[in-house]
Amino acid sequence: MIHTLRDAIGVFDSGVGGLSVLRAIHAALPLEHLVYVADSGHAPYGDQSEAHITQRTLTVGKWLAEQGVKAITIACNTATVVAAQTLREQMHLPVVAIEPAIKPAVALTRSGVVGVLATRQTVQSASVASLVERYGANKRILLQGCPGLVEQVERADLHSPETEALLRQFITPLLAQGADTLVLGCTHYPFLRDTIQRVAGDNILLLDPAEAVARELSRRLSDTGGLSQHTAPGQVQFFSSGDVAQAQTVMSHLWGASISVHALP
Ligand code: DGL
Repeated sequence: MIHTLRDAIGVFDSGVGGLSVLRAIHAALPLEHLVYVADSGHAPYGDQSEAHITQRTLTVGKWLAEQGVKAITIACNTATVVAAQTLREQMHLPVVAIEPAIKPAVALTRSGVVGVLATRQTVQSASVASLVERYGANKRILLQGCPGLVEQVERADLHSPETEALLRQFITPLLAQGADTLVLGCTHYPFLRDTIQRVAGDNILLLDPAEAVARELSRRLSDTGGLSQHTAPGQVQFFSSGDVAQAQTVMSHLWGASISVHALP
């Protein structure tokens, strides 16, 4: 089965959150074969050292390259801000990486205050500091680490009182400071969109850059002549480094269809 990964697009995340990016890629590029790796056995990345995140990113990236994928999408903000540069240096493939949507948020805010919800590693990173410096002039960018949220999504616990209480704890201070736009700076959080919107209120704008990532991937493949020439719909395959039975249940729920998940060799 693994040789059918040749010419697929590899997409990976620390866990199940990158499925929010995968669905945008699948919608934008329906003829492409896609292979998704959830590194759930090592999630959450956001509470771990940079060395560990870099090592996992390189391990998964190299595995995908060995299977013959034609491009890699990092569907994990934490892996991007810590390790995208290192992965790009070591891969001879296009690498497209998600990053928090601070630039579009700055263009869209009316109050001039933007909240960024992300993992602790992401909000502490030099990459996010540089995004804030580049795009945040004359605006207030409030960076909010959200420990615990990734774990809720890894359990597909999207609507419980515990999840809502965690979100309230992270979002209330941002609203109190005038934020009218919230950046979903972790790919797990789009699965909490309904609960986030309920906590934040209908007039708060939520930004998820998944579709922009899909467009960028499409552009990169088109520029290099790498777009699929198939006429039939592409296949999507799923791998996990975590407990496969649990991954199968949670990923089927989040993907919205019953899927088979294979153990990451
Ligand atoms: N989905 C990852 C992100 O976008 C979550 C990282 C983690 O496992 O903490 O940052």
